[in-house]
Amino acid sequence: MKTILKGINIFIFTSTLNCIAQNALFIPEAINGVSFDLNIQNGTTEFYSGITTPTYGINGALLSPTLIINKGEWVTINVTNNLTGSGNSTTMHWHGLRVPAMDDGGPHQVILQGTTWSPSFQILNSAGTFWYHPHGDRKTDLHVSKGLAGMIIVRDSTEAELALPRTYGVDDFPIIVQSKAFDILNQIAISTQMDTSILVNGTAHPYLEAPAQVIRLRLLNASSMRTYNFGFSNGQIFYQIATDGGMKDTSLALTRIQLSPGERSEILINLSAMTGQTVYLKSFASELPEGIYGAIAVGSGADTIPEYTNNFLNGADFNLLQLNIVAPTATPITTIPNALVAYTPFNIISATNYRTFVLDTIRPMFSETPNLAEGPFGINNKTFEMDSINEIVYLNTTEIWTVQNKTLVAHPFHIHGVEFNVIEKSGLLAPPSEKGWKDVVLVMPNDSVKIITKFTDFADDYVPYMYHCHLLHHEDDGMMGSFLVVDTTQSTGILETENNVFHIVAYPNPSKTVWNINGNTPHKIINATLYNTLGEVIDNPLATQNANSFSLNIVNQNL
Ligand code: C2O
Ligand code: CU
Repeated sequence: MKTILKGINIFIFTSTLNCIAQNALFIPEAINGVSFDLNIQNGTTEFYSGITTPTYGINGALLSPTLIINKGEWVTINVTNNLTGSGNSTTMHWHGLRVPAMDDGGPHQVILQGTTWSPSFQILNSAGTFWYHPHGDRKTDLHVSKGLAGMIIVRDSTEAELALPRTYGVDDFPIIVQSKAFDILNQIAISTQMDTSILVNGTAHPYLEAPAQVIRLRLLNASSMRTYNFGFSNGQIFYQIATDGGMKDTSLALTRIQLSPGERSEILINLSAMTGQTVYLKSFASELPEGIYGAIAVGSGADTIPEYTNNFLNGADFNLLQLNIVAPTATPITTIPNALVAYTPFNIISATNYRTFVLDTIRPMFSETPNLAEGPFGINNKTFEMDSINEIVYLNTTEIWTVQNKTLVAHPFHIHGVEFNVIEKSGLLAPPSEKGWKDVVLVMPNDSVKIITKFTDFADDYVPYMYHCHLLHHEDDGMMGSFLVVDTTQSTGILETENNVFHIVAYPNPSKTVWNINGNTPHKIINATLYNTLGEVIDNPLATQNANSFSLNIVNQNL
């Protein structure tokens, strides 16, 4: 039955594809420097000729300029929210960059309409491909789907020494892949499984005139839900040179690379001596294992995603980008380097703390029975609350996090503020394409993944970082948690006294409902203080350390 359905779907898709004119791939403008002005605005975009769709963009109607920044530089980014419509506050998150929590652009750094948010931070990351997108409380999917997403390219002196293509838009291309759903009024729709339009850099049915030499594609999956299995129509080998967070130590020959939402990969492909030929960058989604959004099936029995089988992209192989190969440039790169940038992964021996994050369904207050493929989902049996801190991490500790998926859909798990190494996937070592610096890792159904990271850069007693599922519908539904990184030697809000008492002042104040604070400390008595916005103490619960961890539930009685 499944095979028959799939055959029909492929037929519909390819017949549609063949009769549609190709459009030149849009290359977002690149802006270099240390000071950037980003104006978030409304606009309209003609994705398909003659059809106008309202969209959001930054300094334009759709998507956003590519920011090119050097490692070590201090940058200031002025983000102005000029969106119209009521209640349209937003945020801007620098996905993958190691920045202070207050500059991270998570749900707590709200940019109200008509205001400008101007974080300033130093670029600590090494050369790589990062991105930026809104992260508002329950608004991420809407704002990203409407068009807000841009690429960040970090350059550094080590990468600059390698013989790699790096002329933006000439032999080095941003490839931002997104699927979108449109409703009958040609409005961008979210929370639907009918994301049947595939766009690269906002272009439908795109082609690129690619020079006959080694070119570099910076693949970014900026889709809300869909995973792609990248490869070329002629089966040509390509070379992965970077993971999410930067360069690999050696280039890796592949014919496929799978990227889930949020993940990036830089690849090189050698088109030398192919002038006049056409090849397609494709997603071979027929090869995706079941359970991944984009594969032929997700879930089983009553636990499936409604409408999922109606979307002809699911489990089909489809084109992403047509490459029309043209004459080479004057000084082409023609060979693929083997050695890239040596790096030292975090050492398992140095891990001093371990946490487990269980991805499972959660029963919301008034909802029907949750479904193992559709949710709603939570993490450690909680959904995200703006007023809760879920985890407390100490600065300069190396931790191993185990992420366990107890559902029937694969979830891409993302952590803010750090880069990590994947040390175990499905009980095995990380696959070669995931060796390197990562900030998103896909956790398959009924599987678990172990990652290692060190929280070295920034501490803040009040402002949390996020960890969450990067399927935006899941994230907005609350499949997200927050963690504080605290520096026990420098802390102002969290003080440890000689008397074995651990003081917590949690962020933000006041709590609307309940705080759930979990953590661990060598101290025996935990003293938490709840303040209102006037600085008055309104609750002062105590908890006792139990084994190695404590858990506090503080109910705000002053509602
Ligand atoms: Cu790309 Cu928390 O997000
Ligand atoms: Cu998820």
